[in-house]
Amino acid sequence: MKPVRVGLLGLGTVGTGVVRILEGHQEDLSSQVGSPIVIEKIAVKNMHKTRTLTVDPSKLTEDPWEVIRDPEIDVIVEVMGGVEQTKAYILEALERGKHIVTANKDLMALYGSQVLAKAMENQCDVFYEASVAGGIPIIRTLIEGFSSDRIVKIMGIVNGTTNYILSKMSQEGASYEDVLKEAQQLGYAESDPTSDVEGLDAARKMAILGTLGFRTNVELSDVQVRGISNVSKEDILYAKRLGYEMKLLGIAECQEEEFSITVQPTMVKKTHPIAAVNGVYNAVYVFGEAVGETMFYGAGAGEMPTATSVVADLIAVVKNLRLGVNGLKAIVPYKPKKLKTDEQ
Ligand code: NDP
Ligand code: HSE
Repeated sequence: MKPVRVGLLGLGTVGTGVVRILEGHQEDLSSQVGSPIVIEKIAVKNMHKTRTLTVDPSKLTEDPWEVIRDPEIDVIVEVMGGVEQTKAYILEALERGKHIVTANKDLMALYGSQVLAKAMENQCDVFYEASVAGGIPIIRTLIEGFSSDRIVKIMGIVNGTTNYILSKMSQEGASYEDVLKEAQQLGYAESDPTSDVEGLDAARKMAILGTLGFRTNVELSDVQVRGISNVSKEDILYAKRLGYEMKLLGIAECQEEEFSITVQPTMVKKTHPIAAVNGVYNAVYVFGEAVGETMFYGAGAGEMPTATSVVADLIAVVKNLRLGVNGLKAIVPYKPKKLKTDEQ
């Protein structure tokens, strides 16, 4: 069978994991999808950087357009980050009939509907499982697993960096600054960690989850956000003494035709399962009218867990290519719903 050719944008934490999985699981993957998956080109910022992975230097370029405009490439895997310029790459790739796999929540939270509409127009797939909760397949679960239900609440720890920081401060009495540095070294934090600690990364993820769970168009500006930068060690220890753990919690609720979404540091009773989610782990609690309570748990950031989701999306694209059904599942039918405001 003809190989499926992939253009990779980014070879950082996540991109490296993607290459490792594609190389390490090559045989399993080819037998699942019926053809080899080959990385044709890789865009990076600095071709001469020392990397933890050996790649064929002839595949590297510092110009993402070279990857987007390569007619041999079938699928773009975007693990580079960025918003405006990255949107331009992705929209042009879709116009050229290339399928997209992305881990970019910043892009999907702001421009998801535009990207998905372009995908529909061009009968292309856009999958973005890794954009929320790293290795937990929560996007697929909301779109497919709960398609029969009406979701009324989604609650979760959806940022690994802040959970890592809060857990280490609570369990080891570590300092905020030291643990943030550690999270950066481990590849959990965003290139600008302000978006982690100020709750913006979690807000982007909650906007995506709200959009999919409530089947409406949630704007990023609909999410009320407060991060953890003002949470002190004393706050955490005081909460602990009262029988609570401090967590950066996203809460999205939808009743009738109104929804609300918040992200803020929250004292969670120690007996609640969410209180036991520590380190880089994430958990997403979903309550559906019919299904009742469900909860999903796993690593929310980091090289291999995130790459697992990215490569699973890539496999989904390749399976769709075999069936000739790309682009058919891009958009969940949305219904306008109102943001609940305090005045109501
Ligand atoms: P990194 O900063 O580790 O890697 C970014 C990669 O993109 C690097 O290889 C960098 O090149 C390359 N790059 C950046 N800008 C450009 C550019 N203008 N042109 C060409 N190449 C460029 O990021 P991560 O791997 O951590 O994250 C990537 C994406 O995945 C982001 O959208 C992030 O939000 C998302 N994500 C990350 C997770 C994580 O745990 N890290 C989890 C879930 C999602 P070079 O190597 O030369 O510097
Ligand atoms: N910076 C993000 C986090 C990466 O810590 O959760 C995963 O999306």
